[in-house]
Amino acid sequence: MTKHTISASISEGRLTDNKIHIWKSDTNYLKVDLDSLYKDILSPDERGRADRLRSENDQRRFIVSRGLLRKSLSNYLKAPPSEIEFSYNKYGKPSIRSEHNLENIKFNVSHSKNLVVYAITQNREVGIDLEYIRKVNKADKIVKRFFTEEEAKFYDSQPEDKKELAFFTLWTRKEAYSKARGMGIGLPGKKFDLNLIQRAQSNITKNNESDWSLIDIDIDPGYFAALATEGRDLEICHYNIDTSL
Ligand SMILES: CC(C)(COP(=O)(O)OP(=O)(O)OC[C@H]1O[C@@H](n2cnc3c(N)ncnc32)[C@H](O)[C@@H]1OP(=O)(O)O)[C@@H](O)C(=O)NCCC(=O)NCCS
Repeated sequence: MTKHTISASISEGRLTDNKIHIWKSDTNYLKVDLDSLYKDILSPDERGRADRLRSENDQRRFIVSRGLLRKSLSNYLKAPPSEIEFSYNKYGKPSIRSEHNLENIKFNVSHSKNLVVYAITQNREVGIDLEYIRKVNKADKIVKRFFTEEEAKFYDSQPEDKKELAFFTLWTRKEAYSKARGMGIGLPGKKFDLNLIQRAQSNITKNNESDWSLIDIDIDPGYFAALATEGRDLEICHYNIDTSL
C-alpha cells in the first residue's frame, strides 16, 4: 500500500487501471472560502440541496465535501470543477456524466463526523464507507436486523471487548459493497453474505463468484473504513487534502 501526503496543493494524480486513489480531508481543519465554493463551484441543484439543509454545520459539510469532490475530480477529468456534471441512479448514487468522462473515472464518497473520503477508480465500480468508531446503541438488534445469520453468529461469538471492532468491520464492508453496487438501501444487508465472517480479520477478501475485492482501509485513528471494488491486484494510494481552498 502506497501512502502519499499532498499538502501544498491538490496535485495531479495519475490513475491507472489497477490503482485506487483515496482522498481524505478533515473538513474542520480545512481553510475554505465557503462563499466561493457555493457560488463558483457548486451546481444549481447542489446549491438548492445545501439551502435545504437545516443546520449551518450540515450546510458547511455538504458544501465543502461537494466542492472538494469537484476539485479532486477536476484533476482526473482535466475540466474545471464547476463544469463537471453528475448524474444519479435511482438509488441516489452520483456518477460523472459519460460525455465528460472519456477515461471512465468512477468515484464514491463517504463522510463521518468531520472526515470525508473519496475513492476514485478507473474502469471499475467502487464503494467506500467510513464510520467514526463510537458506542452503537442496540448493536445486537442492528446485527439481527441487517446482518445474515452467519454474520450474526460471528458477531455473537466475539468477546465483549472485540464486539465493537467486529460490528464496524461487518458494517463498513457491507455498506461499501452496497454502495459499490450503487444500491444503498435497495440492497438490504440480509440479502448478501460476502463470506465476511471467515475473513473478517484479513486485509483483503475476495468474493470469488463475482470478483469483488473488499479492503479494510486505514484512514485515521478512531475511524473504520472499507472499500469494495471490482477486480483484484489493486494498488491503493492515499492522499490528504489539507490545503486551503
Ligand atoms: C445512501 C447511503 C448509501 C448513504 O450511506 P451513509 O453511510 O449514510 O453515508 P455515507 O457518508 O457513507 O455516503 C454518502 C455518500 O454516498 C453517495 N451515495 C448516495 N447514494 C448512494 C447509493 N445509492 N450508492 C452509493 N453511493 C451513494 C453520495 O455521494 C453521498 O454523499 P453526498 O450526500 O455528499 O452526495 C445509505 O443511506 C444506504 O442506503 N446504505 C445502505 C443501507 C444498508 O442496507 N445498510 C446495511 C448495512 S449492513
